[in-house]
Amino acid sequence: MLGRSVPFYRETIAMTGQLLAGLLKPGGRVYDLGCSTGNTLIELSRCLAHLRLHFIGVDNSDAMIRKATRKAGMYSKLDCLDFQAADIFSVPLREPAAVIMNYTLQFIRPMLRQDFIKNIYDVLPAGGVLIISEKSVHHDPLFNRVFIQLYLDFKRRQGYSEIEISQKREALENVLIPFADAENLRMLRQAGFQHADKFFQWFNFSSFVAVKE
Ligand SMILES: C[S@@+](CC[C@H](N)C(=O)[O-])C[C@H]1O[C@@H](n2cnc3c(N)ncnc32)[C@H](O)[C@@H]1O
Repeated sequence: MLGRSVPFYRETIAMTGQLLAGLLKPGGRVYDLGCSTGNTLIELSRCLAHLRLHFIGVDNSDAMIRKATRKAGMYSKLDCLDFQAADIFSVPLREPAAVIMNYTLQFIRPMLRQDFIKNIYDVLPAGGVLIISEKSVHHDPLFNRVFIQLYLDFKRRQGYSEIEISQKREALENVLIPFADAENLRMLRQAGFQHADKFFQWFNFSSFVAVKE
């Protein structure tokens, strides 16, 4: 459950909903790339119901997609929610009004990220929105050390044992590769987004919104 390991996880989903409510017109398609068990889209289908959007979640884990679909059924949301087991590099994005990638870009090989974001920019229409949340690295070694320490404190408060913390760190080493916030913002602007900014930060976790003009 990401809520235990990502600070302000629920709040980030709520802010994503608030941003989309302010930026989208009714009736569009919203993609969540790396949707895991569908928490984000299930919540958005509830809080953005008035916009009559269609939500498509994509993840390459069959188990995650099965769980997401089961949850959507439990909430009677299968009419507007569709979960697909696919690789986010090969899934076609059909006329998306918005694309969300929360804590997924960090798992994509760094050298592929710029082109990946550019492809999203290319398929978005004018007014299209991209929302990204990421773990981040700080280039100032002092802040980087302190932020990592504060994150470890957060995990201990969430009930993780020292063994669990070190096992997770080993599992994610060289797999989760965070960028600095400035690098993520530069990537969004280089992809073409005329509007791009950070809308939330908790130490080494940040969320960004970008809009195509
Ligand atoms: C940290 S989780 C994302 C959490 C989710 N966005 C949320 O906010 O609850 C990263 C997800 O990305 C998926 N993923 C990673 N690489 C992928 C790829 N190439 N194609 C599809 N899914 C991918 C993983 O299976 C995992 O479920």
